[in-house]
Amino acid sequence: MSAELTRPAAVGTRRDGPTRHRLPTERRILAHDHREIEHLLGHIESTAEIAGNLASPDLASALRGLLDAIQHTLCGHLDWEETVCYAEMDGLAGTPWATRFLRFQHEQIRQSIDRLEADVLALRHEPTHGALVALRARLYRLHALMSAHLEQEEVALTPFLDVPGDAPVPL
Ligand SMILES: [Fe+2]
Ligand SMILES: [Fe+2]
Repeated sequence: MSAELTRPAAVGTRRDGPTRHRLPTERRILAHDHREIEHLLGHIESTAEIAGNLASPDLASALRGLLDAIQHTLCGHLDWEETVCYAEMDGLAGTPWATRFLRFQHEQIRQSIDRLEADVLALRHEPTHGALVALRARLYRLHALMSAHLEQEEVALTPFLDVPGDAPVPL
């Protein structure tokens, strides 16, 4: 999540240069955050790749570093989207169903992160081969969940934020 970009608490159509966009600041924040999350996907993948080659303390440290990066980059982004972007979409659509599936995906991602937190604790002891395989599978699952979610937001959310403020909402 960007520290230098200011996140307005309230949203609405604002003038952004010659063209009015529905949520210009939110569009910039979204693009910035998604670029950072793309880097995070690479971090998840590289952690999964090395997971079988590290001793338990080194793997615990690598996983801790990944989860700290996830906390820093992703968790605030999910909260922000729900309270600002999704709330705006739901309001304009007049139904919470507009973002229901995106919110459900956020919960899947959060649960996946929580499970990895438990894996860090379990690495106090040397893992079995089966436990390592399961850990790698959970890392790839999180990668898949996040990749698919990002792709869906690029289709469903980004055009909504880009639409001129006085044009019909693309729902
Ligand atoms: Fe999201
Ligand atoms: Fe997002």
